[in-house]
Amino acid sequence: MTSECKSIVCLISGRGSNLEAILRAARDQGWHADGIQAAAVVSNRREARGLEIARAYGVPASVVPHAQFDTRESFEAALSEAIDAHQPALIVLAGFMRVLTAGFVARYRGRLLNIHPSLLPAFPGLDTHRRALAAGVRLHGATVHFVSDQLDGGPIVAQAAVPVWPDDSEDVLAARVLEQEHLLLPRCVRWILEGRVRLQGDRVVAEGIAPQDLLVFAR
Ligand code: GRF
Repeated sequence: MTSECKSIVCLISGRGSNLEAILRAARDQGWHADGIQAAAVVSNRREARGLEIARAYGVPASVVPHAQFDTRESFEAALSEAIDAHQPALIVLAGFMRVLTAGFVARYRGRLLNIHPSLLPAFPGLDTHRRALAAGVRLHGATVHFVSDQLDGGPIVAQAAVPVWPDDSEDVLAARVLEQEHLLLPRCVRWILEGRVRLQGDRVVAEGIAPQDLLVFAR
């Protein structure tokens, strides 16, 4: 590993399958040898299954339980402390289910990445697969974006689109999208840490990446 190690901190709330996709890619692709390190996982819920995944991959995991704080600000102050201990180049919201204040987002501007299970700006918020089915869209998918103070509204890095078939159930559609999330998120993380993708003003600048890699059509 080089002396200029770039650290990632992942924030989770639950299952942790996107976290696992990142940790697996890091292990299988030898990110460590390229100076990229998954430094820590922080959950706002003790029962998050992702904590076990972190431990299985040998990544330090801790809990900052939001319910024990009186205000969003005091929760975020504790969260920042857990994050800043690692001086991360990137903080990945890998299924982190808390709305963050504008102050928190501003503090980590350009270093805060989220994955959302829809083709934003369609279907921000919760229950995206159910809403996509109800709306009758033919195309659905996932978006990786930098976080802004608009809920699920920040500048888009990359998207993966999947078809919606007439007989899809919510679970079937969710699984189809999730498969793409697990491919898309590690790639975006890697691009950002390599300096090939960055936030400039309100736009994402990508250098040395084929445009078709930023937009996946999966069937
Ligand atoms: C994923 O669908 C992600 O897009 C959304 O929350 C879900 C988290 O799943 N933000 P997991 O914890 O990564 O399995």
